[in-house]
Amino acid sequence: MDQQDMGTALEKVLVTEEQLEERLGELARQIDEDYADGDLLLVGVLKGAVMVMADLSRRLHNPCDMDWMAVSSYGAGTTSSGVVRILMDLDIDISGRNVLIVEDVIDSGLTLSWLCGNLRSRGPASLEVCTMVRKPTAFDVDLDVKYVGFDLPDEFIVGYGLDYAEKYRNLPFIGTLAQHVYE
Ligand code: IMP
Ligand code: MG
Repeated sequence: MDQQDMGTALEKVLVTEEQLEERLGELARQIDEDYADGDLLLVGVLKGAVMVMADLSRRLHNPCDMDWMAVSSYGAGTTSSGVVRILMDLDIDISGRNVLIVEDVIDSGLTLSWLCGNLRSRGPASLEVCTMVRKPTAFDVDLDVKYVGFDLPDEFIVGYGLDYAEKYRNLPFIGTLAQHVYE
């Protein structure tokens, strides 16, 4: 799906496909360096992080394990409920592992801070976070996010894994929707 396919549903593009690619390369280089002589387990948060996980992991030169978790914090709407549920848990035992959580976006930070607490209680050797997008609202929560793709303004965004009511995840860029889509 591209900009043309979006028609009037697209308001604006915030991060182009090229910008995503360039930033993914930089993040992968950094992660390769930081985990050069050790174990790395990427934990992707479904469903939003599918694109970041796929693209980031393929740019790493070091081997890594991958596992997935599905949590839900939003209903069909556009604001966080603050209530987090595990819909699907990890297969892998993470105790003693170097875990890197891979996220699409940190908005309120509620989901991630809950997830970090949950994973930390399982005894990983280390726990870090990589997110493609961080919004300014994320600073309300005390979170140490090591790898950030883009700091974007406080707007609802779609594309590159991010959805509005399950749509627009397959856009290769990140953008905002026109007001009429929400009506
Ligand atoms: P948080 O708990 O508010 O940080 O966000 C939790 C989850 O809500 C994220 O992992 C996303 O799946 C989703 N989310 C937050 N902001 C947006 C957005 O702007 N567009 C689409 N999904 C979002
Ligand atoms: Mg997410």
